[in-house]
Amino acid sequence: MTSSKPVRLSQTTITELMIPAYANFGGKIHGGILLSLMDKVAYATASKHAETYCVTVSVDKVEFLQPVEVGELVSMMASVNYVGNTSLVVGIRVESQNVKTGITKHTNSSYFTMVAKGEDDKPAIVPKLILENEEEVKRFIEMMRMKEIKNSVKAKMDDAYSKMEVENAKTILKDQRCEIKIRL
Ligand SMILES: CC(C)(COP(=O)(O)OP(=O)(O)OC[C@H]1O[C@@H](n2cnc3c(N)ncnc32)[C@H](O)[C@@H]1OP(=O)(O)O)[C@@H](O)C(=O)NCCC(=O)NCCS
Repeated sequence: MTSSKPVRLSQTTITELMIPAYANFGGKIHGGILLSLMDKVAYATASKHAETYCVTVSVDKVEFLQPVEVGELVSMMASVNYVGNTSLVVGIRVESQNVKTGITKHTNSSYFTMVAKGEDDKPAIVPKLILENEEEVKRFIEMMRMKEIKNSVKAKMDDAYSKMEVENAKTILKDQRCEIKIRL
């Protein structure tokens, strides 16, 4: 395995035409179609960097900011933004182009955490990332911070959940749009 690799060596872009079979009942492209394409480009990018099979562990920041229409060309630009020991975060920018008008819209940016697997199916060490410009340095630091925030939110949620009792829940939920009707 190579010990360190620049971001550019694994950068991947895929472009796909949005055909009518991808549409939902409202005539727009299904979010699930876009998520499936994003998972593929994340896999391609991560496995090129890791030089091995990778699996998706978590997905952050999925927001469909604008609808994608049938007939548009969707492009997904993916880069490894961060590497840990066996995990990698792949940042994906999704754009959709109307070929008639030439107008391109940014529909979403998401972050896929992937883990490299060895022949024994256990997490495998990935090459270090060589950061060649300020943008790549900035992205690496952003992903480091995101990981720290996620870990701290998870610890707080676990703590809050372990202390929660149903009687407290009634007070906490009194102004919320739900009713507690526990079936025994
Ligand atoms: C992901 C997986 C390999 C982690 O296995 P594990 O025995 O918990 O391994 P570890 O605790 O050593 O974690 C391995 C890496 O995953 C990261 N990781 C584990 N759970 C994570 C989570 N929920 N979010 C982000 N990263 C996570 C760890 O931080 C670690 O990263 P690092 O080596 O860079 O520090 C295992 O849970 C798995 O195989 N999951 C199924 C994945 C899959 O099949 N995906 C396809 C979708 S169905």
